Amino acid sequence: MTMRTKPWAEPYKVKMVELLKMTTQEERRSAIREAGYNTFLLKSEDVYIDLLTDSGTGAMSDRQWAGLMMGDEAYAGSRNFYHLRDTVEAYYSYKFTVPTHQGRGAENILSQCLISEGDYVPGNMYFTTTRLHQELAGGTFVDVIVDDAHDPASTHPFKGDVDFDKLNALVEEVGAEKIPYVCIATCVNMAGGQPISLKNLKELRRWCDTHGILLVHDMTRVAENAYFIQQREDGYAERTIQEIVHEICALTDAATMSAKKDAIVNIGGFLAVNDEELYERACNLVVVYEGLHTYGGMAGRDMEALAIGITESVQDDHIQARVGQVEYLGRNLQDRGVPIVVPTGGHAIFLDARAILPDIPQEQFPAQALTAALYLDTGVRAMERGAVSAGRDKDSGENYMPKLELVRLALPRRVYTQAHMDVVVDSVARVMTEADRIKGLRFVFEPEYLRFFRGRFEEVES
Ligand code: F0G
Repeated sequence: MTMRTKPWAEPYKVKMVELLKMTTQEERRSAIREAGYNTFLLKSEDVYIDLLTDSGTGAMSDRQWAGLMMGDEAYAGSRNFYHLRDTVEAYYSYKFTVPTHQGRGAENILSQCLISEGDYVPGNMYFTTTRLHQELAGGTFVDVIVDDAHDPASTHPFKGDVDFDKLNALVEEVGAEKIPYVCIATCVNMAGGQPISLKNLKELRRWCDTHGILLVHDMTRVAENAYFIQQREDGYAERTIQEIVHEICALTDAATMSAKKDAIVNIGGFLAVNDEELYERACNLVVVYEGLHTYGGMAGRDMEALAIGITESVQDDHIQARVGQVEYLGRNLQDRGVPIVVPTGGHAIFLDARAILPDIPQEQFPAQALTAALYLDTGVRAMERGAVSAGRDKDSGENYMPKLELVRLALPRRVYTQAHMDVVVDSVARVMTEADRIKGLRFVFEPEYLRFFRGRFEEVES
């Protein structure tokens, strides 16, 4: 691994601030109760430091805001669409771009285009919306990530890598014709923001070519993945983030993008493909679900901000500060003895709720309980990424019990300061010392799809 020499300080300064409301513990106690112990149901004004997600929560630059003023709000053929399309091709290599309102819009269209009833879609760990769209299209997701990804303590530098034994076993079992594509995410969210290596990806490209299977890329956090390749993979220390991002994308056939993350916009996404026939099919569906193929649910001004955001997201200084802040938070939590997923990922720190709350059984959702306790302490809002997020098996209806029972502290891009990070560290450490006061939870309302968003809970009295 190469050592960085520069500090991670931000390559920007603050021009405008958003004032926050400070709450008392009593106010927070009643807020979290009213929210059914689900941080998604809190009002954001009751939150002090909002680490619920890095999705759509970033701070746009002065250039992006200026871009909003250049919006061409024509129904068809907006110049901002062509700017976006050309930017996607220049930075990400994909020839055809279909804008969508956000990432899951692209996932829906891609899944419907490529998956038939009874198909299997292998991937390097599931993501909630991605898997659901695959299932709704008639497919079954199969996890083919390396085992290390399921072990929060493993220090494997590329926990996002694919395990070829698992892929080969799947082909053996169901046949290559039942596998329309392999879906790989860069910086695997549910594994803790862990990267895939270019070595693994190149091998996967060859594997897909051998079996005549497409390779699809969830490129939501591709620039962060490129940073880890630059830092950790042999031969890439001297390459720019921009070059590595391009190389990653060029190895894949198509991509879904939630632009609300890497590309630092508050809303937007796209499906990008190289094959003209697939593009044609995607255009056919985008007009049904999103909008015309030259705006797909986005305003012209939002496409402009996105095109500019893409260019900013692949700058070395930006990404070094971005991941540097995540590393700062992780290092300081570790110094206080807090068990987290290691190595730290690109967009978030993941607390190991099983290790922090060993007495709460997984059926009582320890990560959900820890998330609520953290909010109560200082008004820090995090997200459960364990059994609640994993949901139920679509055939048996049984709860999935994932190996990883985590609480995610996701850092919005260019939003919080180092002092905010210090408050978070302090709060997590305090909650951990008072862990025996935290009670398990049970559902009082469980939505059918993506239950973590709107589910409600009550405390289990022991
Ligand atoms: N893929 C990944 C890897 C994601 O992290 C997300 C969203 C999506 C797809 C879906 O994109 O939200 O724009 O429709 N992740 C958010 C999060 C919600 O908080 O991690 P979307």
